[in-house]
Amino acid sequence: MRINITRLPEGNLGGILDRDWPVPPFIDKTTTMTTTYEELRAQRLSIDMTRGKPAADQLDLSQALIDDVAAAGYLSRDGIDCRNYGHLLGLPEARELGGQLLGLPADQVVAGGNSSLELMHDAIVFAMLHGVVPGEAWCRAGEVAFLCPVPGYDRHFAICEALGIRMIAVPMNDDGPDMDRVESLVAADPAIKGIWCVPLYSNPTGAIYSPQVVRRLAQMTTAASDFRLFWDDAYRFHHLTEERYASPAILAECARAGHPDRALIFASTSKVTLAGAGMALFASSRRNVDWWQRCASVRTIGPDKLNQLRHVRYLRDRATLERLMDRHRAILQPKFAALDASLHALLGDLAEVSWTRPKGGYFVSLFTPDGYAKRTVELAAEAGVVLTPAGAAFPYGDDPRDRHLRIAPSCPSAAQIEQAGAVIALSLRRALDEGVRRRA
Ligand SMILES: Cc1ncc(COP(=O)(O)O)c(C=O)c1O
Repeated sequence: MRINITRLPEGNLGGILDRDWPVPPFIDKTTTMTTTYEELRAQRLSIDMTRGKPAADQLDLSQALIDDVAAAGYLSRDGIDCRNYGHLLGLPEARELGGQLLGLPADQVVAGGNSSLELMHDAIVFAMLHGVVPGEAWCRAGEVAFLCPVPGYDRHFAICEALGIRMIAVPMNDDGPDMDRVESLVAADPAIKGIWCVPLYSNPTGAIYSPQVVRRLAQMTTAASDFRLFWDDAYRFHHLTEERYASPAILAECARAGHPDRALIFASTSKVTLAGAGMALFASSRRNVDWWQRCASVRTIGPDKLNQLRHVRYLRDRATLERLMDRHRAILQPKFAALDASLHALLGDLAEVSWTRPKGGYFVSLFTPDGYAKRTVELAAEAGVVLTPAGAAFPYGDDPRDRHLRIAPSCPSAAQIEQAGAVIALSLRRALDEGVRRRA
């Protein structure tokens, strides 16, 4: 099958390339290109779109963390020798910076290791082994279950699977999880101890939780008295448009609702500074910070304070961090626009196919007609574009409708993303074609 890709002038794309999504300069807006799946496959592309990793030029933005900041020495503001053990909850100025970033008092913030996922894993292990309330270990209560809004973050689900926690999928809407379903499940089943939440620019759909959803999560009646919101604020500063959406103030909302200990917040600078060498944050009520301290003190004598010190010196304050994030946006946004333009040009005529145009975060979700996601991923891989396995965004890797693809456009160049978008689109068209032929 030969597909004509007609690139229309800006303004004729049904709003796809609107003010928030300017056409990237490398896209020729007037030419018509024709290509086929076979032609693209013959190009022997090698493009990895499996994970939401920052690109090298994004990491370069924080090179000063490595080159300059360390030269300023190892003594903290208060004269703490950051080369030595101690300060389990983090360097005071790192907790203050974390508090400023999360809009919380510093004593409700812990500056932990290099990865928020690690802190989430720890929190669940602590809860399983010791309980979130002393003496009430989750693992002794029999079965433990978690609600998993889908599509969701595969590594959240991997933690549950590894620890034997039963996962219950609930639909994710544009404004957060389906709250009617969430409320009825948590009210009825005391085994449900938690829910995964990525409140802003959710991975992978870009959903932004509405104030109503947040209020209902804070207020809902749960059969488990030790129920927790696992509030993964991974994309708090990762805007793709000029509008800076704000993460909801979940601790205040929970406190107002009479559940001050319900939310456990996690965040990091992985996609602000260096992924893998960033600074991770845990925040909650003071009671939960004490709980964290009790549990974590068995696990470590203290975090990497040298890393915290250089982050404080480099990031300084929220305004400086936001300026840095503007520079990330300048790199990332054209890549999202390139993917969107490719998908629109090649799939825009198919009513049963849709994809997200996120306002922030690192991912695009593509929805195929039921039953075509796995085959599309296979065909894309044959043509040199590796995607996250179909189903990965669902508990146990099982998308019951086999229709969701997660696309991570951050790491390849914008020109590669345009090609990858074409490969994905033509792979889907070919899969659909095969389906039609199979039925005929
Ligand atoms: C929702 C979400 N949470 C957490 C992480 C990982 O964060 P960290 O690098 O701090 O472990 C990611 C990375 O893609 C993510 O998408």
